[in-house]
Amino acid sequence: MKKVILDCDPGHDDTLALLLAHANPAIDLLAVTTVAGNQTLEKVTRNARNVMTVAGIRKTLLAAGADRPLVRELSTGEYIHGVTGLDGYNFPAPTVPVDKRHAADLIIDLLHANDKITLIPTAPLTNIALAIRKDPTIIPKIEEIVLMGGTNSTGNVTPLAEANIWIDAEAADIVFRSGVPLTMVGLNLTHQAKATPEVVDRIRKLDNEVARMAVGLIDFFASTYKKYFHFDAPPIHDACAVARVINPDIVKCEFVNVVVELKGTYTYGATVSDMEGITGRPANTNVATKLDFDKFWDLMIEALGSY
Ligand code: RIB
Ligand code: CA
Repeated sequence: MKKVILDCDPGHDDTLALLLAHANPAIDLLAVTTVAGNQTLEKVTRNARNVMTVAGIRKTLLAAGADRPLVRELSTGEYIHGVTGLDGYNFPAPTVPVDKRHAADLIIDLLHANDKITLIPTAPLTNIALAIRKDPTIIPKIEEIVLMGGTNSTGNVTPLAEANIWIDAEAADIVFRSGVPLTMVGLNLTHQAKATPEVVDRIRKLDNEVARMAVGLIDFFASTYKKYFHFDAPPIHDACAVARVINPDIVKCEFVNVVVELKGTYTYGATVSDMEGITGRPANTNVATKLDFDKFWDLMIEALGSY
């Protein structure tokens, strides 16, 4: 069983990542931390509370973190995730409490209190960067960072940059240069994880409120992905990072050098993935390349069916 902290910005796909991480027996979900990204910090934190309330997630700590990137102003993903940041389901009032600590402090405290923890960021890396900068002694205590973000092909906010990196590329640069064992689950991988109509039908057949919530959220996510990206089905990006931690065979990777572009007028936020080893720079990142679609959705649907 791996001890995990999920740092997220729910967010439709963050929600499925959270539900998978909590349900799968391979993961001991110590904490959920939130960061501004898909929506404001207030909204993503309320969304996390709402989801944890509906799912009956009680033993997992929840803390809110950064309300903006390290340097730039916040640019949210409202057009994709809606005004609430989690449109598509009417949530009851949340009952899950929020820890009084800042997310970065909770991450630091838990890393000192446990032997090794895997961090799964599925949002801008602001909290992770803050924790590393505030207390560098946590670095050897991080088993691995398995992040949803970046791409080794095309981006989704610019031709080369993916949202989680682009929103706070300075934070991403700190993380990619930290020396922590790193896996990057980027768009080139997550676009293989689409919630097709056949997949949604399998979820619809599950008879529990969490599955009904998931269907409502996926249906909304499908509508915005069709409108803005002309996708026939929405890619469930963030759950791919959790699946990699649960069963690495589901997400194949190549170990290469990745750096984050901070200066380019047209390339800011790009994760420059040296897949062919052209630069001679030392490899530092497992870059996800191939998803086992059937095993991924079997894992996800088994998790949703367990609530
Ligand atoms: O680019 C996809 C990422 O941005 C996902 O984590 C999604 O939730 C959004 O945060
Ligand atoms: Ca996210």
